Amino acid sequence: MIADETVERVRQAADIVEVIGEFVPLKRSGGTWRGPCPFHQGKNPNFSISPSHGSYHCFVCHESGDVFTFIRKRLGLDWPSAVKYIGEKVGIEVVDTPRRAQAPDPNAPNYEALAAAAEWFQGQLRDEQTGRPAREYLESRALDPHAWHRFGLGFAPRDPQALRRHLHALGVDDARQLECGILVHRDGEGEPRIRFRGRVMFPIQDELGRYVGFGGRAMGDEQPKYLNSPESSVFQKRRTLYGLHTAKQAMRRVERAIVVEGYLDAIRLSLAGLEEVVAPLGTALTEEQAHLLTRYTANVFLLYDSDEAGQKATFRSGLELLRARASVQVVSLPDGEDPDSFVHEHGRAGMEAQLGQAIDLFDRQVQLLERRGWFTDLRHRRTAIDKLLPTIRAAKEPLTRDMYLARLADVTHVDKATLSAEADALPEAGARRHPGRAVGGAGWGEGADESLRQGPPGDDAWAGFGRE
Ligand code: UTP
Ligand code: MN
Repeated sequence: MIADETVERVRQAADIVEVIGEFVPLKRSGGTWRGPCPFHQGKNPNFSISPSHGSYHCFVCHESGDVFTFIRKRLGLDWPSAVKYIGEKVGIEVVDTPRRAQAPDPNAPNYEALAAAAEWFQGQLRDEQTGRPAREYLESRALDPHAWHRFGLGFAPRDPQALRRHLHALGVDDARQLECGILVHRDGEGEPRIRFRGRVMFPIQDELGRYVGFGGRAMGDEQPKYLNSPESSVFQKRRTLYGLHTAKQAMRRVERAIVVEGYLDAIRLSLAGLEEVVAPLGTALTEEQAHLLTRYTANVFLLYDSDEAGQKATFRSGLELLRARASVQVVSLPDGEDPDSFVHEHGRAGMEAQLGQAIDLFDRQVQLLERRGWFTDLRHRRTAIDKLLPTIRAAKEPLTRDMYLARLADVTHVDKATLSAEADALPEAGARRHPGRAVGGAGWGEGADESLRQGPPGDDAWAGFGRE
């Protein structure tokens, strides 16, 4: 067994264009490289390599994969040999320790079932007559087949049994399909049926690229807009970040992570070349997600929708990130824009400009209070301090905490030591258990698993501080 970490090091060190270039004559075409496909012996340049993604894809025979897949298939090597082959090229020693005598991962059949379902959904979108409305829907949202392929988008037809039968033929039984949330069995119904019907499917992968669930978007006004896979032994929303599998390398490379709210936002940014983007699944960032993210970079930009719910999610996510010792910047978009629409209109350069104008989370909170004159009279100033103290308490990184205290002392003209003592008076963990202790309900509910759009009562410390 080769350690995941070794595999990732080899992957990062390998230049996919150079490796594949030994087998295929390649020409640069914009950000990608093109050549004839060695898998179906094509003559035309339908074989495309994206160095930034570390992946290749043939538009004719649909062969695709990463640098390891290529070597495995081209040279007929097994997985460890392929990693060793590339490891040698890049000068990294690859040690293959014998697999420990351990039980196989009990979740492996679930990952496989979900991967098979994902592949089937993709086929329905790409090739089937029934997929036509979904193709039109995605095109209306400016997502072309290249984008479908890149993000594994698919379509779940209304037929309640087709996927079930397909999976049976692959040896995936009902119990398995129920366990990983592909089928549902409603009371009073004889046969279990597919959970997702008439929806555009967004597969969700975990950090290692294993399929763990789906988000299914309605194409019309059906509710919910997104139907997600249920929690299961492989899918825990609070531990999953949409896009992390592909974003993690970019995050390390550019030393920055961008957090957006939705699947579509993440896809749009990534397509525009901002690949270091992830989305939590319909919630503010949880503690687990914050830790997952900060393993790759401590420099996080929060890019939420420009509405009130977005702002609330920004602050909640921000505190979670401060606890994980990240540095947190808040990006603002013009009113009525979300990252998807903004990037669509203004492109990568426009978004980079917004990112360049991002301000620190604490500065943003101070700014909102300042604009309303909350530092001018004593009564407001006291409340303003109570609204800002939780942020200082959350800042676990000593330098950040100190800078925040200095900033707060500066705007309130209260002695820094006094503010520090006040912040320490209520331990952070206590702040969670006693929301509303401070004036104005300054604890703004920290339950990490609450839905972004349905904060708990009392989660209103920043209500009414909508955008100006
Ligand atoms: P949005 O409503 O902003 O979705 O919800 P979006 O991704 O931007 O998609 P479009 O542009 O409206 O099509 C943000 C995220 O919240 C979760 C999804 O993860 C979604 O991407 N969500 C939203 C749900 O889980 N269920 C819902 O019903 C709505
Ligand atoms: Mn949206």
